[in-house]
Amino acid sequence: MDQYAVLGNPVKHSRSPRIHQLFAQQLGVEIEYRAIPVELGAFSDTVRSFFLAGGRGINITLPFKQEAFQLAEVHSQRALRAEAVNTLLLGKNNLFYGDNTDGVGLLRDLQRLQFPLEGRRILLLGAGGAARGVLAPLLEARPAEVTIANRDEGRAALLAHAFGDLGRVRSAAYRDLSGSYPVIINATSASLAGELPPLPEHILTQGGYAYDMMYGSQPTIFMHWALQAGAAEVHDGLGMLIEQAAESFFLWRHQRPDTAPVLATLRAELAG
Ligand code: ATR
Repeated sequence: MDQYAVLGNPVKHSRSPRIHQLFAQQLGVEIEYRAIPVELGAFSDTVRSFFLAGGRGINITLPFKQEAFQLAEVHSQRALRAEAVNTLLLGKNNLFYGDNTDGVGLLRDLQRLQFPLEGRRILLLGAGGAARGVLAPLLEARPAEVTIANRDEGRAALLAHAFGDLGRVRSAAYRDLSGSYPVIINATSASLAGELPPLPEHILTQGGYAYDMMYGSQPTIFMHWALQAGAAEVHDGLGMLIEQAAESFFLWRHQRPDTAPVLATLRAELAG
């Protein structure tokens, strides 16, 4: 049976094994997909042993995406842009091929949810790995502009500079944000800690769209904020998680699962 795994620390609560099992069931194939906890310092050895033992593919989650980027010998364009790898496979000449499916995962979910992106001003909150991973695909959707807001403004400025060749990107401190944005995407880890980025009032256009890349059994604090701020559409990142998984599955097996029923199942399981 083809073997797959997600490597992380912690990784016990990863939904990836469940998602990939549902994909496999749907397509009538049998796979094994495990969550493997990896000690800091043991990442590359674990990857090597997994592939040596015949493993077919690996997903990488926190905190190893940069290390996976270093380990990969060949990179997709989108992994090069993200400077992070969440999907590994053995490619041509048995070289480690690293890709990053996070950004395309977000974009597919935003398209499914019919977020208006083309020609719009988008506010992206956060300037860590999560924000970096989605910037290139976001800019490919041809927004009028992406503003990156971060507490540490220097990090936002570096990102804006790194992606400036792909479209109009600027950075701002939260207190300097002005006007209103029809689309706000939260790529900070604030929701994990039950915190809200320090957003000024009226920053979301009435009837606007808000997306939190985090998810949980309950709406995040950012989602509550967005609803109170008059958003018409508010969503969490469960759909992104499933879309990035589907893209990894496709890279490994050249078969594209239908994500809608898997999202419905995961949503029900999360609530229950
Ligand atoms: P990740 O790879 O998940 O993006 P990270 O590199 O640690 O993780 O980045 C976390 C992001 O969330 C950063 O943009 C961080 O802001 P700073 O760079 O200013 O620290 C942001 N973040 C975390 N907690 C936050 C909070 N309570 N309010 C606003 N931003 C927060």
